[in-house]
Amino acid sequence: MTFSKRTASLKQEGAYEVLAQAQKLEADGRSIIHLEIGQPDFETFDNISLAGIQAISTGKTRYTPPTGMPSLRRAIAQDAGRRREMNISPKQVVVSPGAKPNLFFPTLALIEAGDEVIYPNPGFPTYEAMIHVAGGIPVPIPLKEENNFSFDLAAFDNLINNHTKMIIINSPSNPTGGVMPKADLEHIAAAAQKYDAWVLSDEIYGRIVYDNIEVTSIASLPNMAERTIIMDGFSKTYAMTGWRLGYGIMPEPLAHKVGLLLTHSIGCTAHFSQYAGVEALTGGQAQVEAVVSEYKKRRDIIVAGLNDLPAINCQTPQGAFYVFPNIKATGLSSAALANRMLADGGVALLPGSAFGAFGEGYLRLSYVNSIENIEQAIERMRHVLENKD
Ligand SMILES: Cc1ncc(COP(=O)(O)O)c(C=O)c1O
Repeated sequence: MTFSKRTASLKQEGAYEVLAQAQKLEADGRSIIHLEIGQPDFETFDNISLAGIQAISTGKTRYTPPTGMPSLRRAIAQDAGRRREMNISPKQVVVSPGAKPNLFFPTLALIEAGDEVIYPNPGFPTYEAMIHVAGGIPVPIPLKEENNFSFDLAAFDNLINNHTKMIIINSPSNPTGGVMPKADLEHIAAAAQKYDAWVLSDEIYGRIVYDNIEVTSIASLPNMAERTIIMDGFSKTYAMTGWRLGYGIMPEPLAHKVGLLLTHSIGCTAHFSQYAGVEALTGGQAQVEAVVSEYKKRRDIIVAGLNDLPAINCQTPQGAFYVFPNIKATGLSSAALANRMLADGGVALLPGSAFGAFGEGYLRLSYVNSIENIEQAIERMRHVLENKD
């Protein structure tokens, strides 16, 4: 079968691939500890689920405007604006089924064939996929451990040029958990203005941060709102991955265009999910804080455990729920070690190379699992590493 050029380079996401292998092993009776998928292990908070159930039972099961219910757009504009100290109009808000369409559609709306797009590597695999589909040229920027996995600014200065149409940033980051310092964002913002480039800022982990650090949104820097698309959503903060609810915040004319792309593709986001979203934003936030403090405990345990393993060195990330340990001293490729961890140790995790070439030499572990399972995973990993030759 022949397919269009624009879809030729699409690949499966590594996390789904490893999940499928792990589930096959489980079906054969093996015990597997899942540290591969990036979704909270908590249930959606009760008040939110109840709002969704009530919405279904009172007939909120219809089409809505493509860019979302006015009440949800208002709630998002208010919440997102307050958190970032920005003035956001509901007309700038585009609601989508999950956050991903707000990566894909703004890219489709802005990128012409041959436009260059700078994006983080290692990074979320959707970035490269959507740049290809839009006909753009993917320009990976290395995230280096020695910079706490922020941009290598010298490399960035060499890569940006008059053909750069968009810069994608993701802070806190998947897969590294790294948070970009404000000074780096200021540097990128100045370059975006100089070269008249858009910034697509994936802020989906913006509320999952530790150690009281401040996370800056690049959109809140001077003169940046008019060239920034904020992508955010409910999946991670409110444990709502399956409700499919996310949003983008962007200049109004772009929001209108993205609305047209939504109209002609998905139509609109599920009506009742949007009601659940209003409750998520306007209800109490204590559970978000409780979950983040639980993640912090797990982070500290997994980082200490990994650093106690032979030939593994793990930084302490300040955000998201991932660790990205350096495994270069094992002498194995990240794919080979990840395969062994699954086959010999029953620990499902991802090779750093699943997030791009600059992820080679690392593994990604999601600590969205119980402390007991995390501790057991570390012991299983120790066993594999001690018996690897
Ligand atoms: C960095 C990043 N951006 C976007 C998304 C997509 O989120 P959603 O499930 O709401 O589409 C994810 C999900 O894993 C992610 O890790």
